[in-house]
Amino acid sequence: MQNIAKITNDLIYVGASDRRLALFENTYPIPRGVSYNSYLLLDAKTVLFDTTDASVAPQFFENVVAALNGRGLDYVVVHHMEPDHAASLMDLLLRYPDATVVTTAKAAQMMEQFFGSKPTNIQLVKEGDTLSTGAHTLVFTMAPMVHWPEVMMTYDSTSKTLFSADAFGTFGALSGNIFADQMDFDGEWLDDARRYFTNIVGKYGQPVQAVLKKAAALDIQTICPLHGPVWRENLGWFIGKHDVWSRYEPEDKGVVIIYGSIYGHTEAAALRMGALLAERGVKNIKAYDASHTHVSNLIGECWRASHIVLACSTYNNGIFTPVENLLHDLKAHCLQNRTWALIENGSWAPQSGKLMRAMIEEMKDMTVLGDTLTLKSAMKPEQEKELAELADLIVANLKFEL
Ligand code: FEO
Repeated sequence: MQNIAKITNDLIYVGASDRRLALFENTYPIPRGVSYNSYLLLDAKTVLFDTTDASVAPQFFENVVAALNGRGLDYVVVHHMEPDHAASLMDLLLRYPDATVVTTAKAAQMMEQFFGSKPTNIQLVKEGDTLSTGAHTLVFTMAPMVHWPEVMMTYDSTSKTLFSADAFGTFGALSGNIFADQMDFDGEWLDDARRYFTNIVGKYGQPVQAVLKKAAALDIQTICPLHGPVWRENLGWFIGKHDVWSRYEPEDKGVVIIYGSIYGHTEAAALRMGALLAERGVKNIKAYDASHTHVSNLIGECWRASHIVLACSTYNNGIFTPVENLLHDLKAHCLQNRTWALIENGSWAPQSGKLMRAMIEEMKDMTVLGDTLTLKSAMKPEQEKELAELADLIVANLKFEL
């Protein structure tokens, strides 16, 4: 059964969503599923923008047939060669052998790498090249490292639509509504949009900034990303979020508490810190057990908040593994410009504080407030004062009005 949706009279959504996949990229849990977006332009020439992941290919092909409604396919624009968008390409070309693939030289090279050969009909484009399809003029613009080096975007200068590849995408399956303005995006989608951005392209802040600069010079009225809803309203708000995220600026002035606790004693101290911060007027504190929260969620939260309290046990003379993994991941994703407070625990040789501080200091523009609070097995009542002093430091740094 086809399941297409009209974006405009001549632009049709032909993508599909997967609600069965447990881990996107075999890494990121997606309990809300994910959409693989593809769009078909019905101009004098017909143009398909990207294909889909193999998992939804049967639905995708039914959609393409329905949207073409008996017409042939003239062009398929390939913005990105990652298999979540390009896995169905060769199958598409078997079905539509006369279609010309429009893509970058780097993407064509990847087609050989992935498929063993390049498509027969291929048109290579570079920055600023155009393609007239009848009423519409497509302008191609390069977007290397958002998220792979071969990535490009297409600006339809007639409809003022940006086909943005992975940029402006989000985790989350589509449920019928395909426009962000038909959803409670701020309430239900933003956390997943941030988690998608930070984990998928968070490392590439500078290339994202370059794309945002190019986008600022265009009159964009619609954004069609490869994942998640289409944007036709409130574009400035969502672009602004990407600007903040890609500059590594905190989105919220606030505190996230993350703890790695083996038997609960470190957890107790971390949560006591939460209470002391709350007594001092800090709102919207979020606490996470690193052993029970997927690291991709923790990365999203570290991107959101300005201040991070990290409390962690010593383990094998090092940092308890879930927290150590988080710090490795934050460094790999190039998180910058955050303020930290540290609590360590160790029953005979506490080491985690020193090691966490060293890992944090390897990242750019990080500030660690005060001394590390050291617990020996469990927090003693007389250490409440020390914990309160660390809370005072955090609050003073937040410049919070009491
Ligand atoms: Fe959605 Fe980089 O692929």
